[in-house]
Order: sequence, then C-alpha cells, then structure tokens
Amino acid sequence: MNDYEVLAVPVLQDNFAYLVCRAGEAVLIDAGEAKPVFRALKENDLRLQKVLITHSHHDHIGGCRAIQDHLGVQSISPAVESSESSVLGTVCRSISTPGHMAVHKIYYFLELNTLFTGDTLINGGCGRLLGGTPKQFFDSLQLIKQLPNETRILGGHDYLVTNMEFALSVEPENADMQARRDLYRTDPAAAIFVTLAEEKKTNPFLRAPSVERFTELRKQKDYF
Ligand SMILES: [Fe+2]
Repeated sequence: MNDYEVLAVPVLQDNFAYLVCRAGEAVLIDAGEAKPVFRALKENDLRLQKVLITHSHHDHIGGCRAIQDHLGVQSISPAVESSESSVLGTVCRSISTPGHMAVHKIYYFLELNTLFTGDTLINGGCGRLLGGTPKQFFDSLQLIKQLPNETRILGGHDYLVTNMEFALSVEPENADMQARRDLYRTDPAAAIFVTLAEEKKTNPFLRAPSVERFTELRKQKDYF
C-alpha cells in the first residue's frame, strides 16, 4: 500500500480537506473551499476522480459547486448505514455516524489504515450536537473505537489547542494529554494527526464510559 499518499489540504480558517492520491489520481474528502484544492491538485499533478462528503455544513461543502463547474467532478455522500466501494483500487467503507448532525458519514480506508472522521471525531475532541442526539453521537464514537488501534484519524478541523485545554480541564494529571498539547508547539501536524490508540488516551469524549458522561462532557465543552 506504499503507493498511496494522503495530503491534508488546509481550507477556510481551520478546516481540513484531504486528498487520497495514487498514481496521479485523487479522491477528495470534504470540500469546504475549492481554491486550495485546485492548487493542491495542480502542484501535485493530480486528476480528481470524485469528492466524498462527510456532512452538509457549509465549511465541508462550500467548494463543491466550483469543483463541479471547473472539473466536472461530482460530490457524493452515500445515504446508507454502511457501504463498501473501490476507490483508487482500494476498499473504502462509508459508515453512518450521526450525532454532530442527524446525517454524517465517515470514510474508512481499511487497507490504508486511515479514517476520515469529519466532525464526528476532531483531534482530541468531537463536534457539537447540531442535529443528532447524544445517544447517537455516543454510539457513533463506540463504532469508531472498535476499529484497529493503529488507524490514523483524520478529522475535519484543527481544534487541537482548545481540545487539549478542555481535555486537561477534565483530566489535569493526564500525561498523554499534556504531551499532545506540548507537541503542537513544535510539530502541529504530529499532534493533530494521530492514531486511534492515541485518541483513546487523549480524547475525553472517546474516554467517556457512558452516554450520560458523554452528554455531560459535551455540555461542559459547549460553554468552555
Ligand atoms: Fe460540521
């Protein structure tokens, strides 16, 4: 699987879109803005095949129209609980993870050990409840927790600093959280993009043992 590459494309204020690339072809995950994507495609000499969307908030779809107009490439978001398709010659599983919104998808590239989590799981935190129920959100996080620990987690934003500040307000003595917060100062990408194992150590929402605790934490974070 060495011929695959994942490029994080910073868009808008603090969003990430991602390009999964192989042999000059690419698939885009989320499209908050088109211009940075066009630039990344050009710089890396890539042809875009399709766009996979996690959810319909504007900062994840704002660039879809321009991408369709300029490249003739459509954006899709499978309307099913779970489906598998071949993307760039590798398996991509779309999984329904309601919570942040009533409809939200994540994309799991099994053979690449890579999971694009949109606003369901965002480096050390999770999205707000903007349409789904706390129970749905909790269940969606439990689904993610069942994936292999070495899975790379690529979320839709850079919220690392505030997420670690919040995490440490919940668990002040947690050395893994402290290390992740400190790593951001010298190597932001290494602090943002970690494995599921690391998320389990540093993400209070993944660490919540019950839907009740999850709900409590989510409320606290909303006013943090
Ligand atoms: Fe969102």
